[in-house]
Amino acid sequence: MSNSNSKLAIFGGEKTLKTTLKVYNPIGNEELEIVKKVIKSGKLSEFIGSKGDGFSGGKYVKEFESNIQNYFSVKHAITFNSWTSGLIAAVGALGIEPGDEIILSPWTMSACAMAILHWNAIPVFADIEEDTFCIDPKSIEKNISQYTKAIIAIDIAGQSADVNAINKIAKKYSLKVISDTAQAPGAIYHDNYAGTQTDIGGFSFNYHKHINTGEGGVAVTNSDALANKLRLIRNHAESVVDKTSANEELINMIGFNFRMGEIESAIGIEQLKKLNFQINRKQEIASLLDKNLRKLDGLSIPVVRSNSTHVYYAYTLKVDEKKLNIKRSKIKDALVAEGVTALSTEYCNLHLLPLFQKKIAYGKRGFPWKSEFCKRDISYEKGICPIAEKLNEQEFLGFGICAFDYTDDQIFKIIEAFKKVWKNLDFLRKN
Ligand SMILES: Cc1ncc(COP(=O)(O)O)c(C=O)c1O
Repeated sequence: MSNSNSKLAIFGGEKTLKTTLKVYNPIGNEELEIVKKVIKSGKLSEFIGSKGDGFSGGKYVKEFESNIQNYFSVKHAITFNSWTSGLIAAVGALGIEPGDEIILSPWTMSACAMAILHWNAIPVFADIEEDTFCIDPKSIEKNISQYTKAIIAIDIAGQSADVNAINKIAKKYSLKVISDTAQAPGAIYHDNYAGTQTDIGGFSFNYHKHINTGEGGVAVTNSDALANKLRLIRNHAESVVDKTSANEELINMIGFNFRMGEIESAIGIEQLKKLNFQINRKQEIASLLDKNLRKLDGLSIPVVRSNSTHVYYAYTLKVDEKKLNIKRSKIKDALVAEGVTALSTEYCNLHLLPLFQKKIAYGKRGFPWKSEFCKRDISYEKGICPIAEKLNEQEFLGFGICAFDYTDDQIFKIIEAFKKVWKNLDFLRKN
């Protein structure tokens, strides 16, 4: 009897995937050698928060930024100590004022909303597309008010949001657009790289991303003015900008220490060289999964937008509970028991975080949407993003492709585990 017909592991049967998944580690000899060079130089950072060459960072920061510019064909790359810092700087660079509204989707991680709150601006949540889980341009348009100033389009799981449609709306209503391409470096959207087709884009380099510098991020832009502001916010703007400057816009800028170190930048230089390899490997895995999982009834494989490529930070499946007449959690538990441990049924719907719910205490400072800054009632109630909510509550079944270094054999076993669970759905339903 083939394994796919045998007893499910959750009921005491043999586990399909017996080997432990190896945690993603793209760091090799090349990174070790370059880090040795940095350490031998003794210059772990060359940033200075004052005018002069050091304002833009050290040798490796500059080289990494230049390589990013070349790879992604963008005019400016500004590294940060995380993409969260990059997002905060991006919102600040757009000149967002307290009470301004920024539209984003809730199906993402919290940094996207926190970057908005950081400037006492108001996050307004628009729903996602049913197939790609990226922000739905139609929902953006419905959420525009006279106070809307910008959109954050998140390229979730590894592919671009529908940036042409989003840019069209932005143009119509004079809005700015930030691309959060943390999860999709190297993905293509209509012949260009995701993240490079809006006012500001950016990538995360944290330890579970395609490019891993431990922590880190980069903002990219083709605008000289925005690049200047991003650099100022990164590095103590207030101590650099000439107080007698005729440029009103820059006089009152506030800045932080969001600078990337030389070690991380040096690692980034080597990691960038491996990006194509990482993308190819992840696409190879996804293609194997696609070929085999698409045949399973009631399971939808990731949909790749037309004229686009997907770099599979995560492989995002959808379970049709109604059609299968079984709870998604039961399927997940059975798959995990088979050894498919990288599975998750939850991501995040930011508007439903306790932070946004009215029932919690706000603390002394209060939040922007409850303050004098907020110019109208904003709802964070359940029901405002029905597609994202249904995805979270009933459908989503994803696994992190970037989180582990899967062998081919492990991918085949994962496929086998899915097939086995699907063959035994009837039994699973009744027990
Ligand atoms: C969509 C998205 N935005 C922002 C971030 C924040 O990036 P970082 O961890 O580099 O601060 C992440 C990180 O996971 C992310 O996935």
